[in-house]
Amino acid sequence: MHQTGVRIAGVGHYVPTGVLTNADLERMLDTSDEWITTRTGMKERHVAAADEPTSAIAYRAALNALANAGREAADLDCLIVATVTPDYAFPATACILGAKLGISGKPAFDIEIACSGFIYGLTVAASLIRTGVFKRVLLVGAEELTRLVNYKDRSTAILFGDGAGAAVLEASDVDCFLAAELGADGSNPENLYLPLSGTAGPPITPDDVEQRRNTIVMNGREVFRFAVTKMIAATNVALSRAGITADDITWLIPHQANRRIIDAAAKHLEMPTERVIVNIDRYGNTSAASIPMALSEASAAGKLKDGDVILFVGFGAGLSWGAVAWRWHMSTNGKIP
Ligand code: UT7
Repeated sequence: MHQTGVRIAGVGHYVPTGVLTNADLERMLDTSDEWITTRTGMKERHVAAADEPTSAIAYRAALNALANAGREAADLDCLIVATVTPDYAFPATACILGAKLGISGKPAFDIEIACSGFIYGLTVAASLIRTGVFKRVLLVGAEELTRLVNYKDRSTAILFGDGAGAAVLEASDVDCFLAAELGADGSNPENLYLPLSGTAGPPITPDDVEQRRNTIVMNGREVFRFAVTKMIAATNVALSRAGITADDITWLIPHQANRRIIDAAAKHLEMPTERVIVNIDRYGNTSAASIPMALSEASAAGKLKDGDVILFVGFGAGLSWGAVAWRWHMSTNGKIP
């Protein structure tokens, strides 16, 4: 089989302009800035406009990533969108994004594995390139979770925000994909799920909509415990597969679900705070978008240098989890310095 390397050639992100602060939530719910800040690390999150579907914010992030890579949409061979908040149940949001980018006809599909979406997508996109199927793939994590939230339920309403992050992956002499570990356990889907949204259960009624029963349901404590355990375990497996240790990680880029989850995992991995990328204070939990948004911000801030090792790690509904060890090599298509 033809085998080549893969690298990330460009990254970008986009958040809608609407902002929902902790002070706003204090006016809507029985909660406080103090509780939200200490229990989650969140201060504000962005909210898409009613006429701004997921494909619209994915499009903006995609344009930013293409510009960062110095590529045109026409250079892409395939589009992948990781999302649980698609424009429609079908067709795939990636198909709509392809049309918006002016490249209808190119293969396009969605990955629906909640907050683990970018990690799974990175593994799939990298594999498609490494095996020679495609030369250049656009991977977007884009979510509008605020549309699925019940703003009367304080335990979930405070957590979620909207946003999109994108990466252009392309064939390369250097192979930046070091290793991956992915997992899923669907034995208790109701630990984190969207009721009345599919073929399980009775058809949705007007009363369900009125009572907002078709909104996110979560067992927060259970997901918290699972998250810390799985982030550590997945990281250790990915590191061992890559033949490296936690000392070799330059940057930890975790899914941004809760500052306490990130801190607990980082502490266990003995990662100093300054090597952990965190932006949860400004965006809340943006599900599949959180990792590429954090990556794009870290790149734009000039933090990432060629040769750096990034450990992406995430978890989410499924329950699902994953970690990818990645060599950063964006500036040229040459050899690792
Ligand atoms: O992408 C994956 C998605 N999900 C996650 O990663 C979520 C993981 N879980 C979490 O982040 C945390 O469990 C939460 C932030 C959701 C909750 O934090 P917690 O420290 O686990 O709080 P808790 O659920 O144990 O609740 C503690 C108390 C309860 O009151 P009582 O029963 O002790 O009187 C809650 O009713 O905090 C109360 N509470 C709130 N108080 C003020 C829950 N939400 C709020 C709120 N404001 N927004």
